Amino acid sequence: PTLAVIVVAAGSGTRLNGGAPKAFVGLDERSILHHALRGVFAAPPAQVVVVVPDSLRGDALTDARDAAGDRAELITVVAGGATRQESVAAGLSALWADVETVLVHDAARALTPPAVFDRVIGALEAGAAAVIPAVPVVDTIKRVDGGGRVVAAVDRSELAAAQTPQGFRRDVLEAALAAADADHTDDAALVAAAGHDVVTVEGDAVAFKITTVPDLERARALVGAAPS
Ligand code: C5P
Repeated sequence: PTLAVIVVAAGSGTRLNGGAPKAFVGLDERSILHHALRGVFAAPPAQVVVVVPDSLRGDALTDARDAAGDRAELITVVAGGATRQESVAAGLSALWADVETVLVHDAARALTPPAVFDRVIGALEAGAAAVIPAVPVVDTIKRVDGGGRVVAAVDRSELAAAQTPQGFRRDVLEAALAAADADHTDDAALVAAAGHDVVTVEGDAVAFKITTVPDLERARALVGAAPS
């Protein structure tokens, strides 16, 4: 395939207190990673690069094969780095030669619906070099100083929350990573810093990132409530 999905799952997930690296915490009898990969394999065929802590590569391969069904030959598992950006770089270094477009997806957004993948891929096919799914911000956002004092209100209508999968032309993402002089919390920030336009498509509330214990409880409830 000319498409690849890099699933970053090498974070420690300390805010979750799950007793294991975040992607390996269970939602039901399946892990967060397994659920994320089910979503990835429901999208159009792609090389799937799973980036995990070095010691969990074997577990990840078992999980990924299980989620892949008859697409197991598309899986590559690699060890991640100390930051998300380093983990993305590790994933990029494992891409097959014919890959032209890359999606980078947080395993922690385990319940992302296939339609979000479709919208991101559609924007790339329409010619975008960089695309992110975004949702409106529901809270009123304040700029605060180091002492916690409100410095300014920020106009909510100008804000959007960035989700994943984020899609890129491979050459654009590789060049942006090679030129990066700082750590960025998402790939679109990296590509924007390199001077590229980033377009948005509609995200989905269900693509929330499992970060805190209440997030985990919400994800478990959604999985339990879903028809099998
Ligand atoms: O820490 P945060 O929630 O922002 O992580 C987002 C995603 O990046 C998670 O899926 C996590 O596993 C991944 N990550 C990674 N390598 C790191 C840090 C985070 O793959 N060093």
